[in-house]
Amino acid sequence: MTNQRIVITGGAGFIGSHLTALLVEQGNQVVVIDTLLRGNKIPKEVLSKIEFHRVDVCDRAKVAELSKGADIIFHFAAILGVDIVADNPIETMETEVNGMQSVAAAAIENGISKIIYASTSGIYGHLALEQSVNEDILVDPRTSYAMAKRYNEIYLASLYEEKGIDSIALRFFNVYGLRQDNRMVIPRFFEQALDGEALTVFGSGEQTRDFTYVEDAVKSTVLLAEKVKGFEIFNIANEKEATISDLAQKIKSITGSQSPLKYIDAPSKRYDYEVGRRYGSSEKLENFINYKPNTGLDEGLQVILQELKN
Ligand SMILES: NC(=O)c1ccc[n+]([C@@H]2O[C@H](COP(=O)([O-])OP(=O)(O)OC[C@H]3O[C@@H](n4cnc5c(N)ncnc54)[C@H](O)[C@@H]3O)[C@@H](O)[C@H]2O)c1
Repeated sequence: MTNQRIVITGGAGFIGSHLTALLVEQGNQVVVIDTLLRGNKIPKEVLSKIEFHRVDVCDRAKVAELSKGADIIFHFAAILGVDIVADNPIETMETEVNGMQSVAAAAIENGISKIIYASTSGIYGHLALEQSVNEDILVDPRTSYAMAKRYNEIYLASLYEEKGIDSIALRFFNVYGLRQDNRMVIPRFFEQALDGEALTVFGSGEQTRDFTYVEDAVKSTVLLAEKVKGFEIFNIANEKEATISDLAQKIKSITGSQSPLKYIDAPSKRYDYEVGRRYGSSEKLENFINYKPNTGLDEGLQVILQELKN
């Protein structure tokens, strides 16, 4: 993708900052809209090449104004993190639902024909039981976050039917990489291992997740954006399961840490921690763009380690 004017909501966040960097590198004009809840993760050398606005995505007038002349909107602004969402369900849903309404209104008002939306694999709930999940199975969202993401997917399908706006919902599976903060398990384990503290594992540690390297996730996102037509949903998954205990052991081993693993009960009423198994199929993605995430977990963890050492 090149020579496009692009709006990225949540572009200063973890995935958004990698997406911003890639789109700038490809020669696009990027406008980032973000409230900086977690600070600004956009690298300095990229920041000087973009237009940045500290604006709430729910501010409909501002989002419409800042989107004038854009070719495409990547909507990545969200409130996330298992504990944060569980403690702030109303704010989580408001940001999702009102944020999407702002983005949709801006697209309609300004004649923008493409929206790329960051949904989540969380909407599969407990369903990934015996096999990897594909996009066709019935979903089972159980949290305010996952429910609102599914609501927005359905809304985007209707936006295409009613207004002809093309869109894609990306169901990301546990994205990780540089600049992620310790709301998420991988940065938390690194921090604990390097500080000589116990690595805290919720439950038995036998629960699995599918860890997808951020550079692979944003490459998939941009390739999809180039081909978007109608409304489609795509898993963005590495297609490999790792147990949380294995993940903790790997991080302990590569950091040379003597920290023990400490198994603790998952906080009650934290549904996401209880999902026993989750890994996805990226077959639809690969068939569509001839690419799928391929960085192994060991390789991705090494990149993070090298950065932490610098
Ligand atoms: N990281 C993952 O594994 C993962 C998995 C599934 C889905 N996602 C989705 O991908 C997107 C990006 O996630 P991330 O991991 O980069 O999270 P992140 O928290 O690092 O980034 C989200 C960004 O949105 C911004 N934001 C929040 N509320 C806002 C508002 N009202 N107005 C403007 N900006 C606002 C935050 O300041 C932050 O910079 C989110 O939509 C998230 O739901 C992420």
